[in-house]
Amino acid sequence: MGQYFSNEKLKSNRKQYDTQVLGHHFSFYTDNGVFCKDYLDFGTRVLLENLPFSELGESVLDVGCGYGVIGIVISKIVGCSVDMIDVNLRAIHLAKMNAKENEIDNVHIFESNCYRNVEKKYTSIITNPPIRAGKKVVYEIVFGAKDHLLEDGKLFLVIRKDQGAKSLINDLQKLYNVEVLKRDKGFFVIKCSL
Ligand SMILES: C[S@@+](CC[C@H](N)C(=O)[O-])C[C@H]1O[C@@H](n2cnc3c(N)ncnc32)[C@H](O)[C@@H]1O
Repeated sequence: MGQYFSNEKLKSNRKQYDTQVLGHHFSFYTDNGVFCKDYLDFGTRVLLENLPFSELGESVLDVGCGYGVIGIVISKIVGCSVDMIDVNLRAIHLAKMNAKENEIDNVHIFESNCYRNVEKKYTSIITNPPIRAGKKVVYEIVFGAKDHLLEDGKLFLVIRKDQGAKSLINDLQKLYNVEVLKRDKGFFVIKCSL
């Protein structure tokens, strides 16, 4: 759970890893107390590799950005403006460092518990949601997205079968048109349209 909260007290052990996503090279600083500090999460990779980039539009919000992988990759590939939020201040700090490290300047990274500090609406919201933070937070993120999407906006997310993908899809269908874009090793990449 430590990775989901502000954790300045947790001893720092900054690291850096390099990876390729969709043929582009990226380098990420990570640290103790952030999600997936040693490598690019497989669910995040499946989400990124199956995102319909041409549908994202000109303004994207990455919810629960961690140290910044999703927003940074999207900004590099699409060149659109990306806002990135997380509740974890250490993750926010790393995401800002990583934007610089990967020469991304079209991003705005700020602390927010779910959408509390989010004032804008977006063409797309993307999330690898914080399952371990509990259902209430996950539902606040995926259902709250509706109020931060422009008309025709879309929410994209990834969730694992054994984390409750099927029941989440059932619930999402009550509010959105839901399409499963990809199933890979138990991970579902889901597109929700208004
Ligand atoms: C599964 S991780 C994904 C991190 C990153 N997007 C990635 O794909 O590597 C979920 C992220 O959600 C953040 N988070 C947890 N609770 C949150 C909340 N209430 N509001 C915003 N972000 C939250 C965590 O700090 C964590 O960075």
